[in-house]
Amino acid sequence: MRKTSTAFALLLLAGCAQPIAQPDTATQTATAPQANAASAPASQSADPEMDAFISDLMAKMTLDEKIGQLNLAAVGFDVTGPVVSQNVDENIRKGNIGGVFNTFTPVAARKLQEMAVKNTRLHIPLLFGYDVIHGHRTIFPIPLGISTSWDMDVVERSARIAAEEASADGLNWVFSPMVDIARDPRWGRIAEGAGEDTWYGSQVAKAMVRGYQGTDLTKENTVMACLKHFALYGAAEAGRDYNTVDMSMLRMYQEYLPPYKAAIEAGVGSVMTSFNEVNGVPATANKWLMTELLRDEWGFDGFVVTDYTAINELVPHGLGTEAEVGALTLKAGVDMDMVGEVFLKHLNQQVKDGSVSEADIDKACRRILEAKYKLGLFEDPYRYTNEQRATETIMKPEFIEATRDIARKSMVLLKNSKQTLPLKKTGSIALVGPLAKSQRDMIGNWSGAGDWKQAVSLEQGIRNVAGNGLKINYAKGANFTDDKQMIDRLNAHGGELQIDTRTSQQMIAEAVKAAQASDVIVAVVGESQGMTGEAASRADITLPGQQQELLKALKKTGKPLVVVLMNGRPLALQWEEENADAMLETWFAGTQAGNAIADVLFGAYNPSGKLTTTFPQVVGQVPLYYNHKATGRPYGGQMLDKYKSRYMDVSNEPLYPFGYGLSYTTFSYGKPQLSKTSITPTETLEVTVNVTNSGNFDGEEVVQLYLQDVHASVTRPVKELKNFQKINLKKGESKTVTFRVTQEDLKFYNTDLEYVYEPGAFKLYVGTNSRDVQEADFTLTK
Ligand code: NOJ
Repeated sequence: MRKTSTAFALLLLAGCAQPIAQPDTATQTATAPQANAASAPASQSADPEMDAFISDLMAKMTLDEKIGQLNLAAVGFDVTGPVVSQNVDENIRKGNIGGVFNTFTPVAARKLQEMAVKNTRLHIPLLFGYDVIHGHRTIFPIPLGISTSWDMDVVERSARIAAEEASADGLNWVFSPMVDIARDPRWGRIAEGAGEDTWYGSQVAKAMVRGYQGTDLTKENTVMACLKHFALYGAAEAGRDYNTVDMSMLRMYQEYLPPYKAAIEAGVGSVMTSFNEVNGVPATANKWLMTELLRDEWGFDGFVVTDYTAINELVPHGLGTEAEVGALTLKAGVDMDMVGEVFLKHLNQQVKDGSVSEADIDKACRRILEAKYKLGLFEDPYRYTNEQRATETIMKPEFIEATRDIARKSMVLLKNSKQTLPLKKTGSIALVGPLAKSQRDMIGNWSGAGDWKQAVSLEQGIRNVAGNGLKINYAKGANFTDDKQMIDRLNAHGGELQIDTRTSQQMIAEAVKAAQASDVIVAVVGESQGMTGEAASRADITLPGQQQELLKALKKTGKPLVVVLMNGRPLALQWEEENADAMLETWFAGTQAGNAIADVLFGAYNPSGKLTTTFPQVVGQVPLYYNHKATGRPYGGQMLDKYKSRYMDVSNEPLYPFGYGLSYTTFSYGKPQLSKTSITPTETLEVTVNVTNSGNFDGEEVVQLYLQDVHASVTRPVKELKNFQKINLKKGESKTVTFRVTQEDLKFYNTDLEYVYEPGAFKLYVGTNSRDVQEADFTLTK
């Protein structure tokens, strides 16, 4: 049905002289191969109508037109690599471009879409992509922050709203979710994912795909998601971005691949390759990865795009000349070349000299056309360019309310001694720190379409929430850093850092004075947003610059010290944990950051977030993650023990474990009760635990279930998250939480990479975080 309406719709909308199915033969190139048998799909898809439509279209395409579809150009203002596409308009008109990214608004998108639809021979519409990472115009907390909500509705809602806005703003394709497992906080991009845990990361991956794509991609308010970065990008050695990755196949299958697989199973439409190598072959040229695993084993039927100039970067990786690596990647399973123009430059000649077959180009071209078809672009290429919808949708009050709510739910209370928090709305506070008044940092990194001028600073939020009864004594107290080169670097990439030219002694003295005149200190410290994200690895993960000196001086005043953290990675906060009275992790909380943080500080919302990454005591402990393997020489805490797996200068413990986060109330846990102590592989084990709100506030708790396979044919982690429930408990209320454990939860990859369970002893742990748990045992029988 769609096929017929397509031609007409396109004809009418584009105002073209001919419908899409009627190529203008006069403009065909002399060398172009004509309709060919290779345009049949390699295998039938689930949609025969689509197959027929695309076969029909491809039969009319010249070789150059097909190659053009494989080319993705960066249109404009956001550059995430060393080069940017040239002559985009001209290339669109020539049919040399299949999609563009880095431009939006209905007007801009329509202009380019018209260029493609009206000028190219077959009137094939463009894809419009963008890095919609944590919201589009309405910005949510950074992804790491959203993940600490432990609330899949929150995760999905953030992606849904992002899709509503992006699709109203000319876009039909988002470069998200990033599901790379990350266990090294030095890596700046840990900010963009859901943390260190495989099972949890898989849940987030699915929720995000659901949020972006909905159930029908042809709807005008859904967009195609792009899973990235395939694969293992989060395991860059030493946490240095773009660095080498090396890991065993077993670890890959067991710990790093499942979130990608989960997103594929959720139906993600496209996949982006990663810059790193996988098993010695760069991901972008890795046939095992992109064809055998992704397509043959996992059944992915969408298209694969490279990361920014990733094909060109195979030359310095040592894989061959530019032309050679282009052919290699196409054969390995890449369909679209982001910015590098290697396909555009070399493929035609390579078909002529026989080094590339047209069938490989057909395969890639078909997948890209299928994506356009699935998005309904052949039916209506302008479906995402409705200005009125943009006006009605973008940043509507409901979305602003949602981001405030999502931000509050993402915050993690790390410490709260003597019930320092929540604060009173009367008396006075010293509001101190380089982030206290910042608006730019609130929307974090990767918020290209977000307008930071609309973001609420914490100072403004406190005024909004606490009202006039509270006196605020403000002092900046410290610059983010006094390293001139770092400041220049940050500002060169949109840092907007306002640097105070006073000496740090002068700034600290002013802050101390404000503290002395106040009842309580709220110190807002952390990283500037530009210190996080892509190409923002840090070797030192303590508070930058003079910020710790500032905290030390404030501490000496004897006033209660509340530390509000804003940062994109786990930080090493040993001193802060020992000395702050309260500490709240807020990440970069988005457009409504200030209001949301103030809601938490003044008790309008009781914090419920839990960490999804381990916080180390010092950077030398990293990588540090809760689901590590046992060693043959575990350290049992005996000071004088020498030949144990330990450091001489620091314990093995994290500062804050995975799953950790406090509340203004307290929760007490009963012992986990098992329905049986032994199950067969087909039986379900029921685990119940009684949780009571034993404190003075209503609150939410994330009840966590971990498993350990005690004896197995391969070594298994000491503990693995397998389920959780976020529950709401009124003051004094108790609830019984029930979990069901099935054979699926007990499976792992064996040395033959088979996904199996093995009968034997298991331990089960239930608790408030990965460390503070209660244990029970059960057996899986044959
Ligand atoms: C490079 C980044 O690695 C990737 O995440 C992003 O989507 C692309 N650039 C496009 O901006």
